[in-house]
Formats: sequence, C-alpha cells, structure tokens
Amino acid sequence: MKKLALVTVLIVGALSLMAANDAKTLTAKCAGCHGADFGKKALGVSKVVKGMKAEEIAKALKGYKAGTFGGAMKGVMKGQIAGYSDKQIEIVAKYIAGLK
Ligand code: HEC
Repeated sequence: MKKLALVTVLIVGALSLMAANDAKTLTAKCAGCHGADFGKKALGVSKVVKGMKAEEIAKALKGYKAGTFGGAMKGVMKGQIAGYSDKQIEIVAKYIAGLK
C-alpha cells in the first residue's frame, strides 16, 4: 500500500508540473536570459520585456510559438514557448506586465 501511495504522489506531482499555471513557475526558466525581473536584453538582442504591455508580450509569445514573429534569434524563443498553451501565455504576459 505504501508503494501505491508513493506512485500516486509522483503521478500527481508530474501532472501538476505539466499543467503548471502559476506565473512564477512558468517564468522561472526565462530569468537566465531576460533577468529575474525581465529588465535585461536577452542575449544582448531582445527588447527589454519589462515595461511592455501584457497584450504586446502575449502577441510576441504567440507569434514566436506560431513562427510568425521575431528577429534573427526567434528560434531561441520558439523553443522556449512551444510547450505553452495560449492560456499559459496569457498568464505569463499579465505577470510580466505587472512586475515592478
Ligand atoms: C535562451 C535565452 C532565452 C530564454 C530562456 C527566454 N528568452 Fe525570450 N528572448 C530571447 C531572445 C534572444 C529574444 C529575441 C529573439 C528575436 O526575436 O530575435 C527574446 C525575445 C523575447 C520577447 C520579445 C521581446 C522583443 O524583442 O520583442 C519576449 C516577450 C520574451 N522573449 C519572453 C520570454 C519569456 C516569457 C521566457 C520564458 C518563458 C523567455 N523569453 C525565455 C532569449 C530567451
């Protein structure tokens, strides 16, 4: 029975990770390039995302995902955002736009 409980915990944990809808989790991996508060030019080339409006951020992210937006290094962002649903993109965009 103990084993079963452990397996259940692991499965629930994995599922909640996959369906993570909290902004902090969704943006954790962005910090390495964009800075913890999105105040850096990622890899020296992106715009500073901090200060952008939520709609602009969501549009850029959806565009990267669809392959319809971006500059010379858009492939980098496509890889970052490809696994995000539109809903997760909206959550991320609102969160970043609200950063002080
Ligand atoms: C490996 C480095 C890297 C990571 C990690 C990364 N980005 Fe980027 N990001 C870039 C680069 C490089 C660009 C500019 C790409 C281009 O269009 O040429 C960019 C562009 C952007 C832009 C558009 C800004 C503009 O220039 O118009 C947004 C918004 C953005 N990233 C958000 C995010 C979010 C949200 C995450 C985390 C889910 C993330 N990025 C993770 C490197 C990264």
